[in-house]
Amino acid sequence: MAYVITSPCIDVKDGACVKCCPVDCIYEGERTLYIHPQECINCGVCVSVCPTEAIYHDEELPPAEASFAAVNREFFDTRVSALGSPGGACEVGRVACDHPEVAVWPVRATN
Ligand code: F3S
Repeated sequence: MAYVITSPCIDVKDGACVKCCPVDCIYEGERTLYIHPQECINCGVCVSVCPTEAIYHDEELPPAEASFAAVNREFFDTRVSALGSPGGACEVGRVACDHPEVAVWPVRATN
């Protein structure tokens, strides 16, 4: 069980969640951020600070965002970033890739 970042974060990347996470488990990709499912301690502090309301507990994901539990988990796999479990996002910095589902996400129209 862990918290999950979903599609409203894509191309927004506000970053407030990173600043409040007590265990530094929120990692930055190119278009979105990803919560490490093993490093997350389920405190939920990040949920209330996200301006796009992109963060949900994995057991409470809206049906349309259900695939993002796998998106967050698989980002760390060898087939995507190969980060494994670094134990802290600060040292890692921005990773120059995204989960395939995020990489092909339609770019939001701007006004
Ligand atoms: Fe994204 Fe919200 Fe964090 S927009 S970077 S999940 S504060």
